[in-house]
Amino acid sequence: MLEVKNLHSFYGDAHVLHGTTLHVKPGEVVALLGRNGMGKTTLIRSIMRLAQPQVKTGSLLWKGEELLGLSPHEVAKRRIALVPQGRRLFPSLSVTEHLTMLKAASVKEGWTVDRVFEMFPRLAERRSHRGNQLSGGERQMLAVGRALMIDPELVLMDEPSEGLAPVMVQHLETIIANLGKTGLGILLVEQNLYSALAVADRLYVLETGKVVHEVSAAEVRNDQSPLMRFLGVH
Ligand SMILES: Nc1ncnc2c1ncn2[C@@H]1O[C@H](COP(=O)(O)OP(=O)(O)O)[C@@H](O)[C@H]1O
Ligand SMILES: [Mg+2]
Repeated sequence: MLEVKNLHSFYGDAHVLHGTTLHVKPGEVVALLGRNGMGKTTLIRSIMRLAQPQVKTGSLLWKGEELLGLSPHEVAKRRIALVPQGRRLFPSLSVTEHLTMLKAASVKEGWTVDRVFEMFPRLAERRSHRGNQLSGGERQMLAVGRALMIDPELVLMDEPSEGLAPVMVQHLETIIANLGKTGLGILLVEQNLYSALAVADRLYVLETGKVVHEVSAAEVRNDQSPLMRFLGVH
């Protein structure tokens, strides 16, 4: 469904992605692992066609269509959603306002505010709270809920568990696994191998802008040592 081929991305003269190649099949949950600074966010931003980084060569195919040359808005219209790193929210908007700004409350098809509240009862309780009154976990739930409101076929999640308490990380793993079971494709950036293994069908390791290892979750459960070697864990 998503095919990233030989992508080279730059911030000015800084060459960050060095021929990244990976794919996500329909309904697949794929984890992208790698240490800080390896280019994970740069890849996500490249796919979303954000102003920075600049993609100089390579190809980003979505159902066979080239995404290079599209705006972020046009990418979202193709039902690719982003849960950005750091869960950016509007401090002064309420939970409900965050959700309805992408889809009128009267729309009853696909993901609705009510359906998001069913998935995240905690957000329903906090519906009138503003972005700056939410805990880290609640913010992350809202960031995921907001992404769902465009009725995505693919969600790019950039380190959703970063900075969350262990119990919240577990809760989020359950949510991501459940979303995966609904047939949604997910590309999940994750630093924690065990969080990734809890939800992913397949894993990639990114190192200085290049995929250095690809493995299925089933293979890792059988033998972790090759993956550990690529992650530099001994
Ligand atoms: N806006 C930017 N301008 C210049 N360099 C950047 C920018 N954002 C990230 N980088 C650099 O690109 C590299 C990859 O960063 P990033 O994609 O954020 O890594 P990761 O998400 O894997 O931690 C790092 O060396 C980082 O310093
Ligand atoms: Mg990052």
